[in-house]
Amino acid sequence: MEKTFLMVKPDGVQRNLIGEIVSRFEKKGFQLAGAKLMTISRELAENHYGEHKERPFFGELVNFITSGPVFAMVWQGDNVIATARNMMGKTNPSEAAAGTVRGDFAVNVSNNIIHGSDSPESAVREIGLFFKEDELVNYEKAISSWI
Ligand code: PPS
Repeated sequence: MEKTFLMVKPDGVQRNLIGEIVSRFEKKGFQLAGAKLMTISRELAENHYGEHKERPFFGELVNFITSGPVFAMVWQGDNVIATARNMMGKTNPSEAAAGTVRGDFAVNVSNNIIHGSDSPESAVREIGLFFKEDELVNYEKAISSWI
């Protein structure tokens, strides 16, 4: 089953949005496979956002993501990578549609509440960076045949 990496960023944790965000993905019908509250080291942050190293906001992005705890998650389900990106809304909250996480809760691009893998390759890479194999749980949900 397809898996993706999602993370409530420090602003989302400080604003008590973990429950709201988890609830949206649960209600949609996706299945949680792993989760943890953690503080990211600079090394992990620089690795995770490595593809943006040359961009002018890279330093600010690393400072922000290491500034407080994040809630890292792995979710699974049909087309979860693309669907989760839709549910998050556009990166810049001023362009994110109402009904999306960023459209409903964020104002500017530096504090946009949530991160989600943008491709199958990123999902594999990011899950591997944040979770050990034995931190992910495989289980059958009785309700899965209804979704
Ligand atoms: S995307 O979704 O990858 O296409 O977005 P992109 O515009 O390439 O941005 C990559 C991540 O950088 C964050 N970002 C910023 N942070 C601070 N300041 C500025 N100006 C800024 N612009 C973009 C953006 O939120 C993306 O973070 P993630 O965690 O991947 O969503």
